[in-house]
Amino acid sequence: MMNSGFDRESTLELLKFSDDLPSLPDRFVRIQQVIQDPESGADDLARIIRSDQATTAMILKFANSPAYNPTHTPIGELSKAIARIGSRETAHIATTMSLMYGMILPTGMANIRSFWAHAFGVATVCEHLARLVHPAEQQCHERAFMTGLLHDIGRAALGMRVDFSYFERESGHMHGEPLIRFEEAYYGVNHAEAGMQLLRLWLFPDDIFTAVGEHHNPDCPHFLARICYQANAFCNDHVPEHTGIEALPATIAQALADHPVDLSTLTA
Ligand SMILES: [Fe+2]
Ligand SMILES: [Fe+2]
Repeated sequence: MMNSGFDRESTLELLKFSDDLPSLPDRFVRIQQVIQDPESGADDLARIIRSDQATTAMILKFANSPAYNPTHTPIGELSKAIARIGSRETAHIATTMSLMYGMILPTGMANIRSFWAHAFGVATVCEHLARLVHPAEQQCHERAFMTGLLHDIGRAALGMRVDFSYFERESGHMHGEPLIRFEEAYYGVNHAEAGMQLLRLWLFPDDIFTAVGEHHNPDCPHFLARICYQANAFCNDHVPEHTGIEALPATIAQALADHPVDLSTLTA
């Protein structure tokens, strides 16, 4: 263990958030309610999105990006943008934005954007893999997306609760196994475990927090953990680090075409 001033016991104590558990952003909760309510539709989603300028602007950016606008026909209205992108995709983008603006990560906006762009990218690939393996199970696709979106939430937990300089140290720019080794040496706890702990406190279903806890373990038998491991490695290898969120659908579609994922480890 590095002489960092942190140790496993004190890190775990801080990660209990005993006195000040950060709440899930209000907009995040409202979007999940709309998604899960069979009575609600695109209008309800539009109402939540419209109440926030940054999210509205992002939905319009997506609708006008190459992936959704191959004929270069610009759209300036939210309702038309949602119709073009589709309700499910719109909800995914809005969910990502709700976390990006609703959680205070102790770092600059460029790091915050790339953190959530990576999360959205991994979520998109997770959902894609879940669809390939279990085409008819829509609930599984949604859980795969949510697992991908939250897979690195432990980095946010470490930054918000344990070390305000987390994103400014080497840990802010590392990935994969070197990051896990650094965190274990420096904090005594890695971000997968920290994320699992936070999602448990937030009362997420156990298949999601288990998958987040195991997303750096290639041998985990758990399906969501396996697709998250693959999706994370895929994005680290094939999606350039500073790709903007709105450019990800086209970038990922191209990367998946150029480097098809081996599904044999997911179906074994
Ligand atoms: Fe990770
Ligand atoms: Fe990651």
